[in-house]
Amino acid sequence: MKVTVVGAGAVGASCAEYIAIKNFASEVVLVDIKEGFAEGKAMDLMQTASLNGFDTKITGATNDYSKTAGSDIAVITSGIPRKPGMTREELIGINAGIVKSVAASLVEHSPNLILIVVSNPMDTMTYLAHKVTGLPKNRIIGMGGALDSARFKYRLAEALEAPISDVDGMVIGGHSDNGMVPLTRLATRNSVPASEFLSEERLEQVLQDTKVGGATLTGLLGTSAWYAPGAAVSGIVQAIACDQKKIFPCSTLLDGEYGLSDLCIGVPVVLGRNGIEKIVEIKLTDTEKAAMQDSAEGVKATNALI
Ligand code: 2OP
Repeated sequence: MKVTVVGAGAVGASCAEYIAIKNFASEVVLVDIKEGFAEGKAMDLMQTASLNGFDTKITGATNDYSKTAGSDIAVITSGIPRKPGMTREELIGINAGIVKSVAASLVEHSPNLILIVVSNPMDTMTYLAHKVTGLPKNRIIGMGGALDSARFKYRLAEALEAPISDVDGMVIGGHSDNGMVPLTRLATRNSVPASEFLSEERLEQVLQDTKVGGATLTGLLGTSAWYAPGAAVSGIVQAIACDQKKIFPCSTLLDGEYGLSDLCIGVPVVLGRNGIEKIVEIKLTDTEKAAMQDSAEGVKATNALI
């Protein structure tokens, strides 16, 4: 199992680190445009191998996509991150050009790969990757919902004063402050609906805190987050590499599902060796449907800019 991660910045490096630590891939290739940067990160990570007990071989390459040839899975993290006060949508000008050329170079060297898009605005970049590569829709996956759901569970556990392992919840919709649709109705603490423990107001607060999860961190860190994004990507990569058939909310090209078409947006999908093996259509309430519709309109407005 060969995995390429493009962009050796904080998100790309933490993604490579989590993949290696989970020890399911034979090889991770880190690629960056900055001379020597990916090689340096790869060497530093390799020097953790004996300490962290993994055998995954991590190598680095400066913009040389021949080194990525034969990748089974590739992750695009490249582009600029947001600064405090910026929306993900404001990154489109620079990031669209980068994602276009990176996606084309990856597919040129690994025509059978499964592509995971992380660069923002993620739903639009995933849609762009479809346009550029023409890969079948099961092989292009946008990472957003897995991260937003992890942030939702963090906020739920905080409100419930419960261990995170006791909590479950999912966020669908676009990966943007206004576009996320946290499904509070379906959130549970060990199979008991969270609404049995929390007032409507407290659940609404959890929902709002989840939606601005990335912006809150950008305000604190001065740039966007990396540990949770890296961990979310590694979970998706592992589900594919190990054919786990797990459900994650991911951005995928819709063709009528959820009443939406011709856009990529977060919905629950089953992930296995063929990438997106099934789109799971759950019954939404009218309020959730309206929120999904609004979210889709926001994504389509951003798509119109590419
Ligand atoms: C985030 O929400 C990077 O979009 C990513 O932190």
